[in-house]
Amino acid sequence: MSITQQAPRTATRSTKEWQQADARHFLHPFTDFAALAKKGSRIITRGEGIYLWDSEDNKILDAMSGLWCVNVGYGQQSLIDAASKQMKELPFYNAFFQTATPPSIELAEVLAEISPAHFQHVFFTSSGSEGNDTIVRMVRRYWDVSGKPERQVIIGRHNGYHGSTMAGASLGGMSGMHAQGGLPIPNITHIEQPHWFELGKPDQTRDEFGLQAARWLEEKILSVGPEKVAAFIGEPVQGAGGVIVPPATYWPEIQRICKKYDVLLVSDEVICGFGRTGEWFGCETLGFEPDLMTFAKGVSSGYIPLGGVMVGDRVAKVLIEQGGEFNHGFTYSGHPVACAVALANIALIRQLNLVSHVKHNVGPYMAEQFALLNEHPLVGETQTCGLMGAVQIVKDKAARQTFDAALEVGMLCRGHCFDNGLIMRAVGDRMIVAPPLVISKPQIDEMMTLIRRSLDQTLADVHVRGWL
Ligand SMILES: Cc1ncc(COP(=O)(O)O)c(C=O)c1O
Repeated sequence: MSITQQAPRTATRSTKEWQQADARHFLHPFTDFAALAKKGSRIITRGEGIYLWDSEDNKILDAMSGLWCVNVGYGQQSLIDAASKQMKELPFYNAFFQTATPPSIELAEVLAEISPAHFQHVFFTSSGSEGNDTIVRMVRRYWDVSGKPERQVIIGRHNGYHGSTMAGASLGGMSGMHAQGGLPIPNITHIEQPHWFELGKPDQTRDEFGLQAARWLEEKILSVGPEKVAAFIGEPVQGAGGVIVPPATYWPEIQRICKKYDVLLVSDEVICGFGRTGEWFGCETLGFEPDLMTFAKGVSSGYIPLGGVMVGDRVAKVLIEQGGEFNHGFTYSGHPVACAVALANIALIRQLNLVSHVKHNVGPYMAEQFALLNEHPLVGETQTCGLMGAVQIVKDKAARQTFDAALEVGMLCRGHCFDNGLIMRAVGDRMIVAPPLVISKPQIDEMMTLIRRSLDQTLADVHVRGWL
């Protein structure tokens, strides 16, 4: 049977043709399929540094780093070369058959080097969701082997995001996800998020609220029964939930409570890892020492799928010395090309001093610029942590009153951002950014100009519509 030869298609299609083919065949993640088919996707064709171009050749400032991942920016030759070299040498071999490849071993070494000292072991996956599935299996296995099989319950947080597989979506606290497909799976429960703007009492300082929010964990542990609780999982800074930076008191108190009840502490570093917060890992910025860390995204700057779990000494010792065979893993655990790209990515982060660049240079600068947005009539709160930022749109600043959610003011603002050549995400009425770590101060100025313009246009909209 002969295979029909086809000319390369990319150059030959118009935007309309791409949109029609997309609508006919491609079911997008987290998307209303019919609505998108009617509207047509925006076709992104290339990227360079912090910018993208679409199929109409519009230049766009990507203030979301793709999806919180392109930390070193687009078009980095050393990552491209690493992939190409490894593909030529050995495009794939597995780690199941008592075998390993040089890039997977070297990456394990480098990850142990850049992680807090008690992380000396890694389990590889291809995504953050798979990483969190691994967390569920690993913590339950840990307690089984430790002779406490009744410790099954894992506590997450409302509005937390830990991925979209059955276990990932269950650990997360997104009500829309739980509403589809009978989630969460058994033995996963949630507490409220440390979101001062939404949940803090009018007379409560952020730090007081942080302690209260952490103690919701203690209440939950006591109500479940401490002898049944396996682990608590959280993102150091909640990303997809709206860049919710917890008060400084929150994580140390969470750590104290986990220690008190001997509950494993898991930091989901899928967004916060690899320099995003101004340290290699978010737990270092937020001041806690987890037993396990999930990572993905920034490990390879999104150039190729890769994720995993950093396993702290406490858990590793039990699993290695007493665990026997751990019946879990993926075809692509330790994929050599993905690991080679991650090695090049981490080398580049080191070479460009990006962690320090975020901590001492662009992070503080973005924080100053975001604080200035508080003067805007629509802005009720701004928060940043490293290169993550949030702007809360409100109807009434003093009362911390938001617009009716049905008005979708955040989506209006996001529409203006898109039209102005800026990718900024809306989580309800909370506008968020996480630009590539290579961003410069002049580029932050450019981003701020576009954010202000979009906020002004949104303000004009709400006036015209009589919502304010
Ligand atoms: C904190 C966190 N954990 C897990 C995930 C899931 O990662 P993936 O989409 O690679 O499965 C995400 C994705 O955004 C995330 O933000």
